[in-house]
Amino acid sequence: MSGDRAFPRIFLVGFMGSGKTSVARALAARLRADFFDTDAWIEAREARSVAEVFQSHGEAYFRARESEALEAACRSAAAVVATGGGLFLSDANRARIREHGVSVWLDTPLERIWERCRESQERPLWGTREELAELLASRSRVYREADWRMETGGRDVEAIVLELMRLVVPGSKEV
Ligand code: S3P
Repeated sequence: MSGDRAFPRIFLVGFMGSGKTSVARALAARLRADFFDTDAWIEAREARSVAEVFQSHGEAYFRARESEALEAACRSAAAVVATGGGLFLSDANRARIREHGVSVWLDTPLERIWERCRESQERPLWGTREELAELLASRSRVYREADWRMETGGRDVEAIVLELMRLVVPGSKEV
């Protein structure tokens, strides 16, 4: 599952705006390893933004590309994978993640997600605060199936990365 690494591939899962991409980038830099971002892979392949993919082809098309992105991540040398907020909801995607590494749910309170992303226009599933609270509550039942849960509210990226290292990377103090 981990190629020639001394630790398993790490998949970051969780709600939009929970910092998966920033944490994945920082963790990979710390590990001197590659990272993979499923949304970025789709955008490169489709030559358009995630919002444009949703708009022109619909969500089902996006979800199919998302599963392909996950396959590509599992074939790649990437040690850390940032997943889109809906990727972990699929049974098949969760099974693939279990087969290829460990999952960590970045559990971020809605208030923080709201403050961080409310001005952004780039998330097609963004809604009112009430809609997001409902979506977060229903999705959290699935995010809970991740191997690890990390509460990230009020913590900076560096603190989260250090805790992830302790959690997942054996002997991480020496890395
Ligand atoms: C989605 C989250 C987005 C992106 C797409 C769908 C979702 O990724 O994949 O807009 O269903 O929650 P982030 O979690 O990186 O925002």
